[in-house]
Amino acid sequence: MTFQDMPKVELHLHLEGAAPSKFIAGLAQEKNIDISKIFDAKGDYAYDGFDEFLSTYEAACEPLKTPQDFYRLTMAVLEETAKHGVVYAETFVSPDFCGGGDVGAWREYLDAMTRASVDAERDFGITLRGIVTAIRHFGPEQAKTAARCAAETKGDFVVGFGMAGAEMVGRPKDYAYSFDMAREAGLPLTCHAGEWDGPDMVADTIRDLGVSRIGHGINAVQDPKLLAEIAEKGIVLEVCPGSNVVLGAVPDWQSHPIVKLRDAGVPITVSTDDPPFFHTTMTYEYDMLAKTFGWGAEDFAVLNQTGLKAAYCDDATRAMIAKKLEAAQ
Ligand code: ADE
Ligand code: ZN
Repeated sequence: MTFQDMPKVELHLHLEGAAPSKFIAGLAQEKNIDISKIFDAKGDYAYDGFDEFLSTYEAACEPLKTPQDFYRLTMAVLEETAKHGVVYAETFVSPDFCGGGDVGAWREYLDAMTRASVDAERDFGITLRGIVTAIRHFGPEQAKTAARCAAETKGDFVVGFGMAGAEMVGRPKDYAYSFDMAREAGLPLTCHAGEWDGPDMVADTIRDLGVSRIGHGINAVQDPKLLAEIAEKGIVLEVCPGSNVVLGAVPDWQSHPIVKLRDAGVPITVSTDDPPFFHTTMTYEYDMLAKTFGWGAEDFAVLNQTGLKAAYCDDATRAMIAKKLEAAQ
């Protein structure tokens, strides 16, 4: 079995960030929106550094206007993701890009994404669940509207709440109200931290937001006591090595701390984050882990078991995915 065929769990995938550049360019053309500045001569997304990545990402969202656009986006992303063996994915979706935080509008977008996930499960054999996501640099007030959307629509598709965006904006406690609201609605929580900032940001995120998973979390490696705490609490890191290398959070694959994190007993998973932006796929991530660190089928099986255990889906879905993973053993 090749790495591509191997069934996989992917927990950290931004829906808009996974939009193939050709899909976004085509949609922009249909709607007469000029976003040509975000593409290079080959038609790939073009940006320099993390801040520009975020503004390019937001510009790429401009043609995504209607629920039907999100139906098409979800289908396009799942077709591509399934090609790399992913049988279960969780995707970050932001009400900020789906009706601007209005709960009524959000329900319409959610309905479209849910329909797409059902159709993609039938057509491509991949199961998708959604994590409603606040955008940190839009500020704490806007985060509350995202949390309200999450709390109001928890259900078969919406299974979690999280936060992405510019990590250096504010402190975790500034967003505690939103995370409390989502938790009280019964949603499990994840938050990007320790991608850019140091171990203190990871520690504060765990303490002030009560998350069960951390997006990235790689800079926790600088603090052995924090690593021990993460391992002891069983907080799962959604590690995205290819993203870290391309955005410059680490200098290269060889210096990525994923092995140190794993050796410290921290539960780790592997994801692509925003695959077309980083010229990656789940197959490429596995290929690079194999090439750089000598990882093989057993290492990847553990990653996927950790991912499935940490997934926010219900137990019936977890059991169904477990069978798919076992069938390949
Ligand atoms: N949104 C999409 N990708 C992201 C990343 N790597 N970090 C923070 N926010 C993001
Ligand atoms: Zn991310």
